Amino acid sequence: MDNYSGSGTATDQTTKKLHLKHVAKSFGGRKVVDVEDLTLGCCGIEGLIGPNGAGKTTLMSIITHGLKSDSGEVFYYPNNCEMEISNKRLDEIARLGIVKTNQIIQDFASLTIMDSLLLSLSTPKYERFYKIFSEGDLRKEAEGEIEEYLDYFHFENPEGYATSSGEKKLLDIIRCLLLKPKFLLMDEPTAGLPEDQTRKVMDLMMKKTSEEDLSILIVEHDLDVILEVSESVHFMAEGKVLFQGSPAEIRDHKTVVEKYLGSSHV
Ligand SMILES: Nc1ncnc2c1ncn2[C@@H]1O[C@H](COP(=O)(O)OP(=O)(O)OP(=O)(O)O)[C@@H](O)[C@H]1O
Ligand SMILES: [Mg+2]
Repeated sequence: MDNYSGSGTATDQTTKKLHLKHVAKSFGGRKVVDVEDLTLGCCGIEGLIGPNGAGKTTLMSIITHGLKSDSGEVFYYPNNCEMEISNKRLDEIARLGIVKTNQIIQDFASLTIMDSLLLSLSTPKYERFYKIFSEGDLRKEAEGEIEEYLDYFHFENPEGYATSSGEKKLLDIIRCLLLKPKFLLMDEPTAGLPEDQTRKVMDLMMKKTSEEDLSILIVEHDLDVILEVSESVHFMAEGKVLFQGSPAEIRDHKTVVEKYLGSSHV
C-alpha cells in the first residue's frame, strides 16, 4: 500500500500515462481537490473510490480540462515522452487520446443513436458540426464499428433514438471508445445500469485494456465491481488522494472502512 504523502509510489514509472503535481481546485473558497502527487495509467484498469463529494469528478474533469485547476501541472506520457497538458483545451486533450465519460448524462434528444455517435467523430473542419450527418464517408468509415457496439449491448432500436437512461449512458461510453482513447476516464459508467449490462461494460473494458494500448480510470461506488476489475485502486477523501493499493489492500484498509464503507464494517 502506497501513501501519497510518503516517499514515492511503487507504481512502474516507466509505463505511466499521466502524472499530476500539486493540482488544486477550490469552489467558493473551499478546496475540493488538493492532489500533491498522483501517477496514473501504470496498468490496464485502475479504480478511484471515495465518499460523495471527495472530489473524484472534479479531479477527472481537471485532467481532461473540462475544468481548469487553480494550480498545478498535469503531464501526459505518449510513447514515454513527457508532454505537459495543463494548458491544453478539452478538444486538444481528447485528440491526444484522453477522454472521459460523464457521471450525469446530457444526451441529444433530437439525434438518432447513429447521429449522436457520429457526432463524437466530428472535427473542427466542419464549420457547422451537423454537416457530419450528410458526410457519407465518415458514416461509412465508422458504421461497422458502431453497429458492433450496438449489437453487443443489444440496443432495442439501433435505427432510432435512445429511449432509456441506461442506453444514453452506454452511448456516452461508445462515443468515447470511437475516439480510440489511450487513457479513458469513466465516471460512474454503470450507475443505473442493470446487472447484465454492467457485466458487459466491465467485460468490454477488460478486453480492451488487455488487447490495446489503453488504460482506464474508473470511478464507481459499487465496490464489488471496482475491486473485481481493477488492478490498482486509489482512495480519495476530502480532495486528497490518500493512498493506492491492490483491491485486497483497499478492502481491508482501516481508513477506507471508516471513511467510506461505514463504521459498521470495522
Ligand atoms: N461547479 C461547482 N461549484 C461549486 N461546488 C462544486 C462544483 N462542482 C463540485 N463542487 C463541490 O466540490 C466537491 C467535490 O465534488 P465532486 O463532484 O468532485 O465529488 P465526487 O467525489 O465526484 O462525489 P460523488 O461521488 O457524489 O459523485 C463537492 O462538495 C461538490 O459539491
Ligand atoms: Mg462524482
